[in-house]
Amino acid sequence: MKILVTGGAGFIGSNFIYYMLSQHPDYDIVCLDALTYAGNLRTLESALKNKRFKFVKGDITDRAGVLELFRNEKFDIAVNFAAESHVDRSIMDPGIFLSTNVMGTQVLLDACREFGVSRFHQISTDEVYGDLPLDRPDLFFTEETPIRASSPYSASKAGADLLVLAYHRTFGLPVTISRCSNNYGPYHFPEKLIPMIIVNLLHNKPIPVYGTGENIRDWLYVEDHCRAVDLILHKGRAGEVYNVGGHNEMKNIDVVKLVIAELGKSEDLITYVKDRAGHDKRYAIDPTKIQTELGWSPQVKFKDGIKTTVQWYLDNRQWWEDLISGDYLKYYEKMYLNR
Ligand code: NAD
Ligand code: DAU
Repeated sequence: MKILVTGGAGFIGSNFIYYMLSQHPDYDIVCLDALTYAGNLRTLESALKNKRFKFVKGDITDRAGVLELFRNEKFDIAVNFAAESHVDRSIMDPGIFLSTNVMGTQVLLDACREFGVSRFHQISTDEVYGDLPLDRPDLFFTEETPIRASSPYSASKAGADLLVLAYHRTFGLPVTISRCSNNYGPYHFPEKLIPMIIVNLLHNKPIPVYGTGENIRDWLYVEDHCRAVDLILHKGRAGEVYNVGGHNEMKNIDVVKLVIAELGKSEDLITYVKDRAGHDKRYAIDPTKIQTELGWSPQVKFKDGIKTTVQWYLDNRQWWEDLISGDYLKYYEKMYLNR
């Protein structure tokens, strides 16, 4: 079995590569990644020592390059993690989100049609459903919840999902889609909430909390997401969407306070800043379908996963220290200075 993993030098894709190499000793994995600001070859250092793994630098929007890769490698399965993934950046500059997330997905779908795969899997997000009100804790996203994206990021992911499903209906391509809630864990780029809290605290820098900090996210340890994707690839039905989430809703401010306590720092570092435009209030996944159909359930409790994650950032300081200089500093100033 040969699997293409796009976006494998990023947060979830890299965790997926390590997961699959350990779970399937007979699989070969090829990672295609453009190494944008969010991609990091150092993350794949250990994988690169494995004979069953190959890295190819390339852009999913480069049609000729993608077709040549498919022609040469003859993939059995393609899993698309490659994306512009940060909501705040999509508010600053939406164009690249459409190009990578929509057009790039279409290039991959065309390549899968032309060369044939037994499965194309699209890594999507719960954000395609928009948000839920804070005062209706009884409501959850199911696979039937209408698409109602809020940000240019989520709109681009929703566009990609519609294309993926259209390629199934129109061309019979064997596709699946997973829509997961917020992930956390090792190799998470430090512009996203949880790694940013850890990194700022370790530098005794303020933690910028948007609005009142009451917004709710449904956090899932990244390895639980990887296991869900593995299950969908092998047992999921073509043409289907599977929501992935572990009923672990938390207010942002409570996440911030928990990490502060974990690191023994002061809550004085919390700084409330201007809210994100269009900020989604609450995400909450109903995972009944993947639980009943595929037997998936999360294995890692938040209290354990967050400890493991904090420890990983303490043990791998060089990995993130190298990332938070240069371009990251420019981004950080643009995003937070005078906010
Ligand atoms: P990330 O930003 O950490 O990584 C994205 C990777 O894609 C990077 O390695 C980057 O170099 C690569 N990439 C970007 N544009 C590319 C292009 N044009 N061609 C090839 N490679 C390109 O993202 P992540 O957080 O790991 O998210 C991965 C996927 O999971 C995304 O599709 C995202 O929408 C989805 N998702 C993320 C979360 C989350 O909490 N992070 C939750 C649900 C779904
Ligand atoms: O739900 C899945 C989505 O989760 C994925 O599709 C996205 O790719 C991923 O980035 C994530 O999106 P969020 O916008 O939820 O993640 P982020 O870490 O950017 O923010 C989490 C929450 O924290 C959100 O309510 C905004 C808030 N926040 C974020 C940052 C960066 C702050 O309060 N301050 C900050 O500085």
